[in-house]
Amino acid sequence: MAIDWDALIAAAQRVRKRAYAPYSRFQVGAALLGKSGRIYVGCNVENASYGLTICAERNAVFSAVAEGEREFVALVVAGKDPQVFPCGACRQVLAEFCDDLPILIVGEDGTQTETSLCELLPHAFRFKENIHKVG
Ligand code: THU
Repeated sequence: MAIDWDALIAAAQRVRKRAYAPYSRFQVGAALLGKSGRIYVGCNVENASYGLTICAERNAVFSAVAEGEREFVALVVAGKDPQVFPCGACRQVLAEFCDDLPILIVGEDGTQTETSLCELLPHAFRFKENIHKVG
């Protein structure tokens, strides 16, 4: 499938504006392309009990799974800084559903950084391959 990166960037930047981040003031948006061609978005949602905060990337994955999509083609993360890389927890959650995944990081200043899940999380922990297809 050809990846429409512009559409993913626009979706990530749009949802970033909906982020609920009154504590950090650090809004993040994520747009995840499913194998079906659908785009799933997520923003970070913070909480007064700080540890309950959920990142944009995990919200995008969970939204996709709730819609029945478990296979992914690309991810765009839009943040304030030039390089807002997914946190370790989000990398592990992505690895549950992706062997590898091209990831584009987009900063508010327009900086684009290409990376991939395997680059960010080599040797991810998994029980067995493709377990998400049966569960
Ligand atoms: N955050 C994300 O949503 N994604 C990332 O990749 C990094 C961090 C959020 C969590 C928290 O709401 C804020 O950014 C500051 O850490």
